Parts: sequence; structure tokens; C-alpha cells
Amino acid sequence: MELQIAQTAFRTDIIKGLSSPQKFLLPKYFYNTEGDRIFQQIMQAPEYYITNAEDEILDCQSDEILKTSMQLFPTFDIVELGAGDATKTIHLLQEAVRLGASDHYYPIDISRNTIDYLHTALPSLVPGMQITGLEGEYIPMLQQVPLTKPKLVLFLGANIGNMLPDEALAFCKRILNKGDMLLTGFDLKKDPQKILAAYNDKAGFTKAFNLNLLVRINDELGADFNTAHFTHYPLYDPVTGACKSYLISRIKQQVTLDDGTTFRFEKDEPVYMEVSQKYSEREIDKMAIQAGFKTIRSFYDSNHLFVDTLWQKK
Ligand SMILES: C[S@@+](CC[C@H](N)C(=O)[O-])C[C@H]1O[C@@H](n2cnc3c(N)ncnc32)[C@H](O)[C@@H]1O
Repeated sequence: MELQIAQTAFRTDIIKGLSSPQKFLLPKYFYNTEGDRIFQQIMQAPEYYITNAEDEILDCQSDEILKTSMQLFPTFDIVELGAGDATKTIHLLQEAVRLGASDHYYPIDISRNTIDYLHTALPSLVPGMQITGLEGEYIPMLQQVPLTKPKLVLFLGANIGNMLPDEALAFCKRILNKGDMLLTGFDLKKDPQKILAAYNDKAGFTKAFNLNLLVRINDELGADFNTAHFTHYPLYDPVTGACKSYLISRIKQQVTLDDGTTFRFEKDEPVYMEVSQKYSEREIDKMAIQAGFKTIRSFYDSNHLFVDTLWQKK
């Protein structure tokens, strides 16, 4: 039944996006089993500095992050929004067990494949930590976490960057209860060429990641996309900090779903796929205040490419 509801929502969203004057697809649909696999390849691409930068923060500073959090609450549950394979998070979870800060981790992810993987892999990697995976969207799943303890909510990997700044602010306003803590990974504004290269890796993983959503629409909605007829186009605007990805239709074409719905594409017409928003430190501080949080401390990698900010809900 749940799967059926998810399939109906998928169809509705795809039809809505591809029928709009400016066509778009929602990035949350990137993550089927193949999308999860390609995302792991992106994380290992030499151009994708984000993973290494945040891994360094969590590897070297989890102790400090947790001790700072423990000054607010001696123990808490750890919740993660969009956990993915949690490779970086494992440093923090292991340290949390060692310090006695937490014994319960709730990874939230829209991908069933990811939640299944975490239930299988994490118990032996983080002994002493109970794992309760929640498959679904951020806010409804967050509401399912018991209120018995204060929470440290993780929103890592610049997941927040997949929302435009106004959406990110509205999202942060909606989540957490008074006193709860939020550790968010923000990718910082930097050399525009370095940013653009991260979303245009030479091996073509990001391109494959975007095209895989068309394959998913073929598989699940009986569409007839030919991926060779689309190309990947990333664009970074250093003023707004928005790095946007598009798929461009290489030819005039039409695509039909199994229910007969047809979409027409002009030659060179863009389909907006995803934003990866970059922030200045001033913009991050402003968002904390506007969203009703107090900044407790910020943790940077040694190259100052990325920051994990620890905020507390006022
Ligand atoms: C960019 S990956 C990052 C994964 C991980 N946080 C990291 O830093 O490596 C985004 C993850 O969030 C999940 N995700 C995306 N949109 C979501 C949504 N609306 N609700 C729940 N999970 C979502 C995806 O399935 C994916 O695992």
C-alpha cells in the first residue's frame, strides 16, 4: 500500500514537472538503488571535494562536536536527515558511544535501499548504538522519532544545499523542538571553477546520476526516454551561490508514459534538475538567526572549503 502511494506521488510529480512551462524534476527522486550507487561514485570523484572535506571534519573533530553538544545535554538521541551510506557519520557515532553521549541513532532516508543497507552494516561498525532506520521524507519521519530525549539532528553532506535559500530557511523554521541541536553541513562559496568542476566530473558520474532519473521514469512509469537525446549542463552563479544542474534536450522530441501522457521537448530545451546552493559564513549566520536558532559553534575542514555548524533551537 505504502509503495503504491509512493508510486502515485512519483507519477504525479513527474507529470507536474514535465508539464510545467519551465520543465523540472525533483532531486529527491534521484535516489533509487542505481542512483544511490552512482552517488557513491560521485563522492569518490577527485573533483567532488565536499565528501573529503566533511569527512575530515567528522574524523578529526567529532570529539569536539560531541563534547560541545554534551555541555547542552549530557545524553541525546542522534537523528540524521538524508543519511545516505553514513560513511562520514560513523566517525561521530563511534565517538558518541565512546563518550556515552548517545546510544540510539535514527537515520532518515527516502531510499529504502539505503535504510536496508544501514540496518545491515551499522550494528557491527558501531557496536553499542541502537539503529532505527526511518524510510521516508525528512519532516514526516522526523515526527516519528520519540520525544523521550533531546536530539542532535544531523543534516550533512550539504543536503541543505539541495533547497534554494528561501526553502532552506522555511525548512529550518519548521524542524526541531526548543533546545534540540542541529548540525548542518554547508558548502562554502569559493573559487567558482572548483565548484563547477565538482558538478561536472571528468568521469561523467554526475551526468550519469542525472540521466538515471530518466531511466527510473522509463522503468517505473513506462516512459520511452532515450538518454542519448539529453545532455547534462551544470551552471554556477558566484553571486547567488546557486550551482544548478539541467538536462538539455539535444533534439526536438516527444516522450510518452505508459498512461499515454506525452511531453514535448524543443531542441535545446532545459529541464531543471537540482540546485546545490553555496553559502558565505555571513549568510549562514543570518539563516540561523532567522530560523530561530542560536549558533553554538562552527567546525571547518583544514582548507576552509566546508563547515558543519552546530545550532540550538531557541
Ligand atoms: C546528497 S545525498 C547525501 C548523503 C549523506 N548525507 C552524505 O553526506 O553522504 C542525499 C541523501 O538524502 C536522501 N534524500 C534526498 N531527499 C530526501 C528527502 N526529501 N527526504 C528524505 N531523504 C532524502 C537521499 O536518498 C540521499 O541518501
